Amino acid sequence: MSRRIFIFDTTLRDGEQSPGASLNIEEKVEIARQLARLRVDTIEAGFPASSPGDFEAVRRIAQTVQGPAIAALARVTPTDIDRAWEAIRYAARPCIHVFIGTSPIHRQYKLKMNAEAVLEAAVAAVRHARRYTSAVEFSAEDASRTEPEFLRQIFTAVIEAGATVINVPDTVGYATPVEFGRFIAALLAGIPNMDKAMLSVHCHDDLGLATANSLAAIAGGATQVEGTINGIGERAGNTALEEVVMALYTRRDVYDCETDVKTEEIYRTSRLVSSLTGMPVQYNKAVVGRNAFQHESGIHQDGVLKERTTYEIMNPAMIGLSQDNIVLGKLSGRHAFRHRLEQLGFNLSEEELNKAFERFKALADRKKEVTDRDLEAIVEDEVRVLPEKVALESLHISTGNRVVPTATVQLVVEGVPMQEAACGEGPVDAAFKAIDKIVGLEVNLLDYSLSAVTGGKDALGEVTARIELEGKAYVGRGFSTDIIEASVKAYLNALNKAIYETNYRLPVAQLARAKGGS
Ligand code: KIV
Ligand code: ZN
Repeated sequence: MSRRIFIFDTTLRDGEQSPGASLNIEEKVEIARQLARLRVDTIEAGFPASSPGDFEAVRRIAQTVQGPAIAALARVTPTDIDRAWEAIRYAARPCIHVFIGTSPIHRQYKLKMNAEAVLEAAVAAVRHARRYTSAVEFSAEDASRTEPEFLRQIFTAVIEAGATVINVPDTVGYATPVEFGRFIAALLAGIPNMDKAMLSVHCHDDLGLATANSLAAIAGGATQVEGTINGIGERAGNTALEEVVMALYTRRDVYDCETDVKTEEIYRTSRLVSSLTGMPVQYNKAVVGRNAFQHESGIHQDGVLKERTTYEIMNPAMIGLSQDNIVLGKLSGRHAFRHRLEQLGFNLSEEELNKAFERFKALADRKKEVTDRDLEAIVEDEVRVLPEKVALESLHISTGNRVVPTATVQLVVEGVPMQEAACGEGPVDAAFKAIDKIVGLEVNLLDYSLSAVTGGKDALGEVTARIELEGKAYVGRGFSTDIIEASVKAYLNALNKAIYETNYRLPVAQLARAKGGS
């Protein structure tokens, strides 16, 4: 019988530590719900002691998301552990995850503790956490650079103290597959009470080896793999869970292991994480990249048409990527539209459906074929999670290679129409400046990217804008066949998130008065 491998998702904790990624509470809850649909075994929802925002997000997820176990990270201090418990106590299956650095480098330079003190702190922390819950994971941070003998000692001691999972992180992505697989096998053989706990691995991708190392660890006997969707995370990121899951499935002849993941939800989860974090998925990314199932060369296309398996080792449908891609056009009705959205996994309210359908009709007028990717973009653009205090009403741009780019932007700010004009380095810059004038904020644009949702000259443009307000970053996305409009929508989306999170009071009355309004 196949061995069951448990999937521990840390997109909302380690993944959120990605430079540039920033999620608000509603977005975290939305991702957690999708992870539950994906059927991961554990969702690490955050690090409650790190900030009040993280605490609140973990608490909301623990209270509302059903299915997976909900884990919270804590250092080995009683205050961190108490805080973690406060946040997850209402989960059906709460798990406290405690960690401390174990390698000589971490002990000497970071912790300034000797091995004995590290071991004592780890044991005390596990005991403390066990008073709250029967599910306690212990991580030996930088385990792959820790003396094997000390690791055996500390793991044996924490299992004795009640740890139910021991985690072996390759924190800095230093391990190599053959070495790591052997390391895990030797550890498993050397821990006398290993029958009382599960061994987990947590790899980072600094050398591009995180997936390979995780699979080698499974071959060496590990039972749980930790990672993130799309491999996001600190520095070069974490193990991409979709890669591990699909490798285990596709090469079950080699690994003879299975997971409980509903693979058909992989693509949707990847899109959601990318869209909410604003971190694009590399085109040639394994499993979920937009080129992962594209065949460019004539020989390959011919082969796939004759027999898909000539050049495809996975069926795209298995990750939830529909193949009858071009589906709707100008003449498609509301019924077909709703049906296709449902097939894609979107269950919209009547009001949301109306908005999305209107947008679809407008797009179908400009674009011959509306693909599934277009439909996903429409839903993302029209069905926003947060209230939109600032919305675009109209936009007029004057630009050219011999004129000063000028934008006139009309917004509806908390129901009040307002208009401003501004000049800029280019039309996008001019439009953003006009918006800043209206809302009376000094916004710093950190990052801006533009791509096409599908091929063709009539493609929808997709813009990601990362802005900074009062020292915090916010990400927004916008879609339109007009790239200036897509840019403005992305900017406003980020701005709305910032306004929501900072509780910023828009100077509506003041601005309306200045414009002669009521
Ligand atoms: O990479 C790491 O070591 C971690 C631990 C906290 C598990 O993220
Ligand atoms: Zn990590």
